[in-house]
Amino acid sequence: MRPTDKELFRMAVKASENAYVPFSNFHVGAALLTKDGQVYTGCNIENSSYGATICAERTAMVKAVSEGVREFEAIAIAGNGGTSWPCGICRQFMFEFSEDMRVISGENEDELKSYRLNELLLEGFKL
Ligand code: THU
Repeated sequence: MRPTDKELFRMAVKASENAYVPFSNFHVGAALLTKDGQVYTGCNIENSSYGATICAERTAMVKAVSEGVREFEAIAIAGNGGTSWPCGICRQFMFEFSEDMRVISGENEDELKSYRLNELLLEGFKL
């Protein structure tokens, strides 16, 4: 069965427990729902060479794409258990694969909002 937005957000909160965040202490988790109903989770992983840090959304996307999955329905994101919308790099990264996927976040599981990725990134770059 396909998870609800609330269930997907809970999975994002759970995934944020694995965040490696010695620099920001901002724990982000993402739960990525594929078109065929699988869920890949991810967390942010920081690095002392700050630019090498990877966001939770991209961790989840990289896990899925490296397993051969390229079509996505939705992603839920939680930062320190609450709202966190994707950064610009993550918006473009996700846009490559599923322009109209839904992006879900909120202060808690009962106050979720969602947007289409192409609303959050108007006229995203395409080769
Ligand atoms: N971060 C994410 O994981 N996702 C985003 O979309 C924005 C930022 C992480 C990166 C870094 O570890 C921490 O949040 C603070 O910027």
